[in-house]
Amino acid sequence: MIGIFDSGIGGLTVVRAIMDALPGYDIIYFGDTARTPYGNKSSDTVIQYSLQNTDFLISQGAKLIVMACNTASSVATDAVKKNFNIPIHEVISSAVKQSLKATRKSIIGVIGTRATISSGIYERKIKEANPEAKVFSAACPLLVPLVEEGWLKKPETRMIVKKYLHPLKVKQIDTLILGCTHYPLLKAIIQHKIGKKVHIIDSSISVAEEINNFLSVSPETEKVLSRNGTAKFFVSDLTQQFKITAAEVLRRPIDLTHIRL
Ligand code: DGL
Repeated sequence: MIGIFDSGIGGLTVVRAIMDALPGYDIIYFGDTARTPYGNKSSDTVIQYSLQNTDFLISQGAKLIVMACNTASSVATDAVKKNFNIPIHEVISSAVKQSLKATRKSIIGVIGTRATISSGIYERKIKEANPEAKVFSAACPLLVPLVEEGWLKKPETRMIVKKYLHPLKVKQIDTLILGCTHYPLLKAIIQHKIGKKVHIIDSSISVAEEINNFLSVSPETEKVLSRNGTAKFFVSDLTQQFKITAAEVLRRPIDLTHIRL
């Protein structure tokens, strides 16, 4: 099984991308809805949660872990890799790689939660690969609650997106990384507000491609991943709103199991 975790609902965008890129692979998802959001918590707390989430997924049979949460990927990747001896994928490196391929002027924008943006990880990784690149980042803390409320097309959401993107737009970025699980659900609005010529990098799609590539060169992992087309979803708190939004994101009804870690 491919184990995927997120602070809550947003990681379902990664599940969707993985289901599209790797049809048939069994998936187990854990959304830490009781402790969400991670985006404004301290690194120590997010590391502790990420270790617990990974441990849970492995105890259920996961043989490869995807840290779908950008915030967890920003601050907890080293700790998770140190503590567990199976392939661990985060969502940042693949988005960075793709942004560097897409950019023409090497002026790249990044949006994410406060924790992700203040970790500086995207900027660091982009500059490691291309020291000449210019990176402009913006924390967009209001976007996660708007998505969770299902306000995907409201005028208020459009207005807030416009306000957040304005400083990046004036820097004339030509590529924008969506550094948060929730933002792919606002992709159309984001594209509209930043301008249609700007390449949008959706980290859910880039990580799915990266895992596909990884499996094609890692037969020892590929052969231990079961392929019966099943998907199991666990959450640490079960709410009606989660059920509704989850079905919308995955475009089908899903069964959710409530567990306590
Ligand atoms: N999953 C988080 C991320 O991608 C967003 C939601 C949260 O703050 O927990 O950064």
